[in-house]
Amino acid sequence: EITSLQDKLGRPLRDLRISVTDRCNFRCSYCMPAEIFDKNFQFLPKDDVLTFEEITRVSNLFVRAAGIEKLRITGGEPLVRKDITDLIRMLSTVKGIKDIAMTTNGSLLAKHAKALKEAGLHRVTISLDCLDDERFRKINGRGVGVDQVFEGISAAEEAGLGVKINMVVQRGVNDHDIIPMARHFKDTGIILRFIEFMDVGNSNGWNLDDVISKKEIFERINKEMPIEPIKPNYEGEVATRFRFKDSDNEIGIISSVTDAFCSTCSRARLSADGKLVTCLFAAGGHDLRDLLRSGASDEKVIERMAEIWGNRHDRYSEERLQNTDKKQIRKIEMSQIGG
Ligand code: GTP
Ligand code: 5AD
Ligand code: SF4
Ligand code: SF4
Repeated sequence: EITSLQDKLGRPLRDLRISVTDRCNFRCSYCMPAEIFDKNFQFLPKDDVLTFEEITRVSNLFVRAAGIEKLRITGGEPLVRKDITDLIRMLSTVKGIKDIAMTTNGSLLAKHAKALKEAGLHRVTISLDCLDDERFRKINGRGVGVDQVFEGISAAEEAGLGVKINMVVQRGVNDHDIIPMARHFKDTGIILRFIEFMDVGNSNGWNLDDVISKKEIFERINKEMPIEPIKPNYEGEVATRFRFKDSDNEIGIISSVTDAFCSTCSRARLSADGKLVTCLFAAGGHDLRDLLRSGASDEKVIERMAEIWGNRHDRYSEERLQNTDKKQIRKIEMSQIGG
């Protein structure tokens, strides 16, 4: 009975990104600035957060509603959610799902990698913005050293998880780390992806001047270590892939600002409190939690999912640099949907 859905712009729904908590043990300035996410900040109360049973049911229903094959677990930081391995084990029983990935800051991964793999996680994407310890401690706002993340990376590799690294590039903050990062991960064979700094949320102080474009990132790397573009792995892949001319290793560049990819965007996001969010830059989401908790039948929930996707017309990143007059006032926080 698996069907496929299309939104108003003809885009299918393929990929569900599930935030399991709005909390994080880091305070990256571009995502959860410490001045705002301080000890008085009201995180979601426990009762508002979807249970593992609810998340598993939603995932099953998304397979039935849209035929999705891919789940990504995000946060905040997913590894601060208690017993997260249990959720992975439950999700690995969802028929139709071929790929379960997790986006994590890596700081708690050394402890969890083996159990996550055994529970059915396929791969992790670890955020790491530089190699320099002192700078990294500042960027994460919690004084966590790079060694702790590298221990997580090693543990993930040893456990047999697929590993990719994400680096958010900000001019004047870590753009000098582009080459050292590229060089380091080229040698290890781990795929590093550079992400253009985005105007997510309402408080990260984004400015177009702080963005290092895909073109500039390419040129800087190409000058030191020649690279060439290669074909995407799948239609709508977020990162543009490049291979080093002198090896089989690759890097990626995610050009959400200077070369947006909304036209093929097939991602839906589920917030920790059960809102279906149709764009990273949406003002808010469509509540599914009340429906789930009202005793609604599977058919009813599927109908609602289809209706929300069917009405979707988001293309924020393609419009960002035009229509600056009708600038969106309020956006969802990155920490609520995990990128
Ligand atoms: P793969 O499954 O390995 O291809 O991963 P992915 O690239 O789909 O997922 P990942 O979470 O690693 O994405 C990397 C980053 O790209 C995110 O953290 C976001 O910063 C950005 N990104 C991902 N999806 C979107 C999107 O739909 N819109 C925008 N603007 N940025 C996105
Ligand atoms: N711009 C680009 N990427 C971001 N991320 C968080 N905030 C931003 C931003 N403002 C990335 C993180 C991580 C993922 C969750 O999203 O580095 O890789
Ligand atoms: Fe940093 Fe990720 Fe935590 Fe945001 S969720 S503060 S990007 S570690
Ligand atoms: Fe998708 Fe919105 Fe990102 Fe465009 S800006 S790629 S529509 S999430």
